[in-house]
Amino acid sequence: MKITGDELRKKWIEFFKKRGHTPISSASLIPENDPTVLFTTAGMHPLVPYLLGQPHPAGKRLCDAQKCVRTGDIDEVGDATHCTFFEMLGNWSLGDYFKTEMVPWSYEFLTQELGLDPDRLAVTVFEGDSDCPRDEETAALWEKCGIKKENIFYLGKKHNWWGPAGQTGPCGPDTEMFFDTGKPKCGKDCSPACDCGKYVEVWNDVFMQFNKTASGTFEPLKQKNVDTGMGLERALMNMQGLKSVYDTDVFMPIVEKIKELSGADTSDAEALRAVRVVADHIRTATFIIGDERGVTPSNVDQGYILRRLLRRAIRFGGAIGLKSRDYSAVAAVVVDKYKDVYPELDAARAKIVAEIDEEYDRFSRTLENGMKEFEKLCKFLQSDIIPGKSAFRLYDTYGFPLEMTVELAKERGFKVDIDGFNARFEEHKNLSHAGAEQRFKGGLADTGELTARLHTATHLMHRALKQVLNDDSVNQRGSNITPERLRFDFSFGRAMTPEEIKAVEDKVNAAIAADVPVTCEEMTVDEAKAAGAVGLFASKYGEKVKVYTMGEYSKEICGGPHAARTGELGHFRIVKEQSSSAGVRRIKAVLE
Ligand code: SER
Repeated sequence: MKITGDELRKKWIEFFKKRGHTPISSASLIPENDPTVLFTTAGMHPLVPYLLGQPHPAGKRLCDAQKCVRTGDIDEVGDATHCTFFEMLGNWSLGDYFKTEMVPWSYEFLTQELGLDPDRLAVTVFEGDSDCPRDEETAALWEKCGIKKENIFYLGKKHNWWGPAGQTGPCGPDTEMFFDTGKPKCGKDCSPACDCGKYVEVWNDVFMQFNKTASGTFEPLKQKNVDTGMGLERALMNMQGLKSVYDTDVFMPIVEKIKELSGADTSDAEALRAVRVVADHIRTATFIIGDERGVTPSNVDQGYILRRLLRRAIRFGGAIGLKSRDYSAVAAVVVDKYKDVYPELDAARAKIVAEIDEEYDRFSRTLENGMKEFEKLCKFLQSDIIPGKSAFRLYDTYGFPLEMTVELAKERGFKVDIDGFNARFEEHKNLSHAGAEQRFKGGLADTGELTARLHTATHLMHRALKQVLNDDSVNQRGSNITPERLRFDFSFGRAMTPEEIKAVEDKVNAAIAADVPVTCEEMTVDEAKAAGAVGLFASKYGEKVKVYTMGEYSKEICGGPHAARTGELGHFRIVKEQSSSAGVRRIKAVLE
């Protein structure tokens, strides 16, 4: 019997637990207090402060399965291996063990636990450059484990260096493990670096020893860390001896449902691609909407990416005959498949179904006419470039995300004047899509003093909102902080009155005037609850959490960082209170 996704996840946690690691829950897919990225993209991402030296409440050895979203390769989805959502199995040493432990553990897990043939394992190590020496130590460790010399490859930074996740942050040389499919070498230089298909990556161990600074230099980190990641779907594909992640047991019921609803004949390559696109995008959308900090489709930030995924799924699904409520029926299968591991999905089941149905209704009203408009446009095009104003019209009137127009154009051999589109977009002051894309390119959060102060102000405001609105349903739904402002989404059914806004400002400013210290304690989730702390209590393993207290003004579960005293904050002012989505309000506020 081949290993299933659930079994692999379990084996991973058990293996590292036995070696002194504390399992931690997957963090939200939507990073909190990190203005530079929209989604959590790797297991290490929520752990950046700890990799930089802050003590983690659960200790120095951690392991987990982390929900991740990467949309950089969205165009590749539909082939055998690309997904926009995936689970990353990870383990970390935060300044604890290093190569001598990690390499033999990796070997043991792959050969003993997963039963991979040692002779079919190939590994790569860093060949060295002016930033960091050749990693002969790791190569020797592999050899000692039993990897044949000819299966150890030295490669450069392009292949054997990981991170930082953004432009700055922790990074270092890595060693990657590959499964040799048994295909003959494609040439004498064939190595895991080439994409001939002989070698498939299974696991990446990063030896995080550097912090890349904004000026591009590599400073040694205070502590040497290990950060490893194994993509669950791809690992399963290898272990189940399959050619595609969509054939693994995690995708099977989703794919089967799509085939049943559409009647698609997947022996046709185009139909197969469409089935996979729908499977991937609906799975990702389900996890984004059903996240503990879930968002709904919109034209901004994560909501815009969600909209793009759903509309792309609807376009591809339409081609194989999927209809209105089919998409939410597929989402229900995703919830069923994952609900035991990610209970937040089950809790949000009704919301997931409703949001997908609504987005379908919104988009289907304009899709057909938009496609007609697009075809007409192509017919009368004078060059091979679709003007920005036409792309903007498709966006504004027919709800075509720009990327969809680009993709449709590409299928017909045309390009889109993206600068022209952006100029129109700016004119229409519908700010945030461009912002969202830019953020994808950015680095990790600036955790400087300004953001720390705004973060502290966010806690004070959260509490003040609960008091002023006197409503138990007032709860955080999202938070995003840049050095200039805080943005806070919370559940509340109507607009706030000017008096209420003033009362919240006054309360926060009173807490600032009181100049109380901000203290942090580590405790279990149960203790935090008993202490009256607010925050997300999602925790599967009973790990410790941090609780930040600001005198009598706030007590909240949070990862930090914060100002040392409330008196450092200056003057707090709410600059905007608006609707974010149904039942959710959004506040923007500044410290001045
Ligand atoms: N951070 C590394 C990766 O994403 C290892 O977890 O591959």
